[in-house]
Amino acid sequence: MLIDKSDNSNHLKKINELVITCKKCSLSSGRKNAVPGVGPPFATLMFVGEAPGSKEDEIGLPFVGKAGNLLEKLFIEVPIYREDVFITNVVKCRPPNNRNPLENEILSCKNYLMKQIEIINPRIIVTLGKYALLHFIPTGKISIDHGKNIPWKNRILYPIYHPAAALYNPKILETLKLDMSRIPELLRSSLSTKNKK
Ligand code: URA
Ligand code: SF4
Repeated sequence: MLIDKSDNSNHLKKINELVITCKKCSLSSGRKNAVPGVGPPFATLMFVGEAPGSKEDEIGLPFVGKAGNLLEKLFIEVPIYREDVFITNVVKCRPPNNRNPLENEILSCKNYLMKQIEIINPRIIVTLGKYALLHFIPTGKISIDHGKNIPWKNRILYPIYHPAAALYNPKILETLKLDMSRIPELLRSSLSTKNKK
């Protein structure tokens, strides 16, 4: 069967439209821009962060501030090509003063991420930091689960530290680098086992 790629783009565009006009939680009132996420509609690799910060809120794109700059540097080292990856967040609007997202905000926003996963159908979902991990595995613990591949709904969940946590902590940075360096091989082997099935 031929897969119509434009269909996926259209589905994603619809999600984007819903997100940028969404008023399901009170974060809508403080935002300049909602940040739905960006990347190819058939990405095999998806990165999920926590929530937009001030730069992301200003521009409407994920990971374009300090944490994003570090993420990009790490991508280059591995290498992972940013344009091959779909990048988004658990919560699509910026919490005031970058506070942690609240339970009700995460719940209100949940469906957008779930729809994006369904449409894009990535093999590996890399979660960045505690909140993204908890979204998928409520009993998860980032200090224990980072760098593990965890089966999740026919996909692989791969939790790593959040780059913001690595900005001022060299030990976390080293761990993050090591965990990220394993991603290309993980992706290759998971795609080849999938194709054999
Ligand atoms: N931190 C996040 O978790 N997401 C972003 O988009 C930017 C910073
Ligand atoms: Fe809607 Fe999510 Fe933004 Fe809340 S954070 S207003 S649920 S898009």
